[in-house]
Amino acid sequence: MKFYVTTPIYYVNDQPHIGHAYTTLAADVLAIHNRMLGKDVFFLTGTDEHGQKVQEAARARNLSPKEHADSMVENFKNLWRALGVTHDAFIRTTDPGHVAVVQEMANKLREEGDIEKRTYSGWYCTHCERYWAESDLRETGGNCPECGREVWRMEEENYFFLMSRYHARLLEHIEQNPGYILPETRRNEVLGFLNARPLGDLCISRPRRRLEWGVPLPFDQDFVVYVWFDALVNYYSATRYLLPQRLKESGTPFWPADHHIIGKDILTTHAVYWSTMLMALGLELPRNIFAHGWWTIGGKKMSKSLGNVVDPAEVAGTYGSDAFRYFLFREVPFGLDGDYSEAALVHRINTDLANDLGNLASRVLKMTERYAGYAVPSPTRPPGAEEGEMKLLAEDLPRAVEEALRELRFQRALEEIWRLVSLANKYIDASAPWALAKDPEERDRLETVLYSSLEALRFLALLLHPFMPLATRKLYAALGQEGDPSEVNLLELTRWGGLEPGTPLGKLEALFPRIETKAREKGTREAQKKPKRKEKMQAPEKAQADNLIGMEDFAKVQLKTGRVTAAERVEGSKKLIRLEVDTGEPRQVVAGVGTSYAPEDLVGKTVVVVTNLKPARLMGVESQGMLLAATADGRPVILTTGEDVSPGSPIK
Ligand code: ME8
Ligand code: MG
Repeated sequence: MKFYVTTPIYYVNDQPHIGHAYTTLAADVLAIHNRMLGKDVFFLTGTDEHGQKVQEAARARNLSPKEHADSMVENFKNLWRALGVTHDAFIRTTDPGHVAVVQEMANKLREEGDIEKRTYSGWYCTHCERYWAESDLRETGGNCPECGREVWRMEEENYFFLMSRYHARLLEHIEQNPGYILPETRRNEVLGFLNARPLGDLCISRPRRRLEWGVPLPFDQDFVVYVWFDALVNYYSATRYLLPQRLKESGTPFWPADHHIIGKDILTTHAVYWSTMLMALGLELPRNIFAHGWWTIGGKKMSKSLGNVVDPAEVAGTYGSDAFRYFLFREVPFGLDGDYSEAALVHRINTDLANDLGNLASRVLKMTERYAGYAVPSPTRPPGAEEGEMKLLAEDLPRAVEEALRELRFQRALEEIWRLVSLANKYIDASAPWALAKDPEERDRLETVLYSSLEALRFLALLLHPFMPLATRKLYAALGQEGDPSEVNLLELTRWGGLEPGTPLGKLEALFPRIETKAREKGTREAQKKPKRKEKMQAPEKAQADNLIGMEDFAKVQLKTGRVTAAERVEGSKKLIRLEVDTGEPRQVVAGVGTSYAPEDLVGKTVVVVTNLKPARLMGVESQGMLLAATADGRPVILTTGEDVSPGSPIK
């Protein structure tokens, strides 16, 4: 079976930033995952090199457009290398193979009678390379509704693709194929747009005297092809001249694509222009167009002028490409907007990666070294209920991950995998191999516990491979496994017990070291600030007196320990989690900790609850009390007890 996934082809007028990295990494995760399902994968990315913006950027550097493109394209290629991206082909719209297909398509449309020459007059934005109708400009005081720049009155002859003819067919296609445009909000947006007004025709040429840098229109040398027409064709032209030999040999037709992954900024060009172009050309439509959300920095748009552009190569250099990849897909559901911050990244590294996953791997391997001579022990004792629970979860995970990734729910896939990380950690805590090791009678039990923990790590190394290729490779090798995780078929991973007893293990350096420096620096900086603020106070004694409470006030707050018995996200909220807590009596508590914790991380934890708080409703869900949590780096960290305490114990 084939799997064809694309990214937008990026303009070579800018440096790549985390937004570009996001789309490409999403495609990369899907590509690696689908290769591991045994499919023939074609993963295409590339660069968009024609058009006004590129011509201008080149002129500003005193280079020819091609020289400019040649140098800029390296930034993208280098970045993809640094991030471990596994694309099968890199398309450039200046490739002669691409240019030939664009001209072939233009000719074909003309022969079919889908292209017409017309005189057009309207308002033109050179930056956005598009015309606006008078009515579009009414609300913007005459400036471009998209970029806000000045627009020019233009009257010229041009060629038009008769897109309006395909209005009804396009509507029908979108309506009949609910998965064509995703997420659903984007689909509704396009349907709304198509239902609101008749679809116009699309100007697909630019006069050469105004714009030199483009694919010459084959039937009229006075014109070049409109850059978007040129660019969109890449998805198809690549299947004609860029398929790697092994894929060509598979004999599978690679068109249509399975997923065009794009940002929401270019939804219309894909959902409307590209779809109707394909209809007119008699080609199949892609199976899916997925428009993901937008990354901002501190709530602001990334832009050169604001100087807040985050360089993904720098982030990967500091924190590792695996951590960066993990963060992007764990932090924000694919499809929604997200805000990037280094603090959030560091938090994810320290909690999920260093604490949960890294610790699990290092302690299991260390214990195996110490107690079993650094080879996979035999699970001699018949597996008990605890092993059974892990086995069940692990064997079900490939299916759950596959299901999530089929719908591009990356965050969901990671949450599923983290259930096994948490369970394995709990399993080790509960079975305490260090205690078993002291008792020769418990030798069998000890070996079973070590075996099961190692086996859980094997599942994790394989399931997480698309998200963190480097760390999982190290882990896989440390488990004594030969070959690359990417070569393993995930469908064969449904059986627990694949680790061969007696296999010597390899060494494992820390997978994800904790990031200490930043947090500590920040902590001390803040600690230093505080006394200063106090010095400035006019009457410190009075202020203090006003803030102090007596014992009688504190005694009003009733605090108890509670054991979390169930947890789930509150629908429609990123932050809120609904918890069922046993505080001696069962109660429901809604906590705003969803940005730091997955619900399954919370189950089994002993927490601190304010039990005499007036009930409140949060997003329609009643909360009977409140969890105590520290705020660290702007994120909640739930307070738990150092020792096991029975639920409902009073706290004074
Ligand atoms: O539009 N957040 O190229 P482009 C998330 N050449 N994603 C972002 C982002 C952000 N802040 N900024 C950019 C073009 N992206 C055309 C495409 S396709 C036939 C032609 C990502 O260099 C996102 O995928 O402006 C967006 O759609 C793309 O970069 C735009 O890249
Ligand atoms: Mg753009």
